[in-house]
Amino acid sequence: MRTPVIAGNWKLYKTSGEAKGLIEALLPLIKDVKGVEVIVAPVFTILHRVGELIGGSRVKLSAQNCFWEEEGAFTGEVSPGMLLDAGCSHVIIGHSERRQYFAETDETVNRKTKAAIAAGLKAIVCVGETLEEREEGVMNDVLTRQVTKGLDGLTSLQAVIIAYEPVWAIGTGKTATEAQAQEAHRLIRTVISQKFGVDSSDKVRILYGGSVKPDNVKGLMSQPDIDGALVGGASLKPESFAAIVNFGK
Ligand code: PGA
Repeated sequence: MRTPVIAGNWKLYKTSGEAKGLIEALLPLIKDVKGVEVIVAPVFTILHRVGELIGGSRVKLSAQNCFWEEEGAFTGEVSPGMLLDAGCSHVIIGHSERRQYFAETDETVNRKTKAAIAAGLKAIVCVGETLEEREEGVMNDVLTRQVTKGLDGLTSLQAVIIAYEPVWAIGTGKTATEAQAQEAHRLIRTVISQKFGVDSSDKVRILYGGSVKPDNVKGLMSQPDIDGALVGGASLKPESFAAIVNFGK
């Protein structure tokens, strides 16, 4: 039995004042939900503040990125240990926007993932094909490569959550159909089972991301290999994020 995860990726949105309004409105709306892990991922500068706002609630704190070194002369970077110190339990790694705009590669994803786990964080490792790759018929190769290289060298997946986010569905309003998402999730689970064994592949949570909204979350969550959602746009409003967290109602 895999506990579902609903994670809100706030991207480059929300000042501390805005985050306060969002969290204060969100908490009462999700307080009765049982058996769902809820995570929010604000920008670095307000991690500590959001950590205080979520306080003893069920909501967990994630960063959106990290560096792989623990400390040193690396201006502008933030280390996994520093994220832990700021109150994070999770970190998103290899989001497609980082791959697209900030030169993230499978290799950097792998280094970051290993460093995050070594520091005691849980890594939400993102994979996903572009529209071009899907149309060229290389989706399976791309996902296999991203999963294999991204998780290379790990001995356990206990601290790993995978997020499948087809790049063409992110922020576009185009969701993958339930069948398309299920097919990709199945493939990812098979790759994981070949690399880490059936026990790991049965246990690892695979989230879907890409235009998840209150009205499509239920259908996606009904698929056997979809264990949650990584939500961008719809996580910025308390009502829509709460409705997604409440998908089981
Ligand atoms: P979206 O973003 O829900 O706005 O499509 C998802 C993501 O990029 O994590």
